Amino acid sequence: MRHYLSFSDMSPEETRGVLRRAREMKRDRGKGAGRPLDGEHWAMLFAKASTRTRVSFEIGLRELGAGVVFMSGDQLQLGRGEPIEDTARVLGRMFHGAVIRTFAQSDLETFARHSGIVTVNALTDAEHPCQILADIFTIEELRGPITGQRIAFIGDGACNVPASWILAARAFGFRLTIAAPRGYQPAPELVRGSDVRVTESVEEAALGADVLYSDVWVSMGKEAEAQRRLADLNGYQINRELHALAAPGALVMHCLPAYRGKEITDEMLEAHAPTIFAQAENRLHVQKALIAQLCEWRRARR
Ligand code: CP
Ligand code: NVA
Repeated sequence: MRHYLSFSDMSPEETRGVLRRAREMKRDRGKGAGRPLDGEHWAMLFAKASTRTRVSFEIGLRELGAGVVFMSGDQLQLGRGEPIEDTARVLGRMFHGAVIRTFAQSDLETFARHSGIVTVNALTDAEHPCQILADIFTIEELRGPITGQRIAFIGDGACNVPASWILAARAFGFRLTIAAPRGYQPAPELVRGSDVRVTESVEEAALGADVLYSDVWVSMGKEAEAQRRLADLNGYQINRELHALAAPGALVMHCLPAYRGKEITDEMLEAHAPTIFAQAENRLHVQKALIAQLCEWRRARR
């Protein structure tokens, strides 16, 4: 059974297929398109907060025809120590698929292995693949093929969002530069053998970039380190001066939620709001296309 636990769980050709299908689904939304998940029920298991991911998956699954049950980690017996393996086997007997947001990637993998149902990564500490699918979709909608474009990620280069960006750069051959201070750079094994550049210099990353991309400095689960992170990442900000170094008309993107005055200025966020909120909306379309594809593979027993 095919799951989507990592950006690299689909080949570049398969990812292309999902992005194409997402374009059709966006165009045809509300026009009475098919409901391939009619009669199914999907579980949404979230151990961390969420606005965009939760609503885009819930609405998307309903539009595909599925019933949805949302569960937050602390309301389940899982939160009181029931093993993931047992939770997975119970849910796998009632649901047809699961969308999971949690901490450890290994917990997501354990769930997928033991549940026997299609499982989708809605963010872990290691990756946020559905976000990057939507981001690539947005860039291509606004600027055409991503291959050959220059993307600069500015900020905490060691968290989930840049990790999925690195896997995407390996797959699609665009030029990715990550500007992050020491201690916040991606794990060397993630970057090794790729063309991804890692630098401490925000200016070097931004120079001539087609896209400046930002994420929070304090990811979920890192709240205890907030003070140190705010000090260490100070300066890794998308602001007017940095944007002036990028290619003329460069896009500014943010996965949201945004902390104005920290990783991005209010001025930059508002000036680029149409792009940034398109990213959020496109989560819906790409995730619908992804789930429809995963369900086709399941039916074909791939
Ligand atoms: N970008 C994103 O995943 O947002 P949420 O945390 O609100 O789901
Ligand atoms: N890196 C962030 C992404 C939020 C969508 C986090 O993990 O909190």
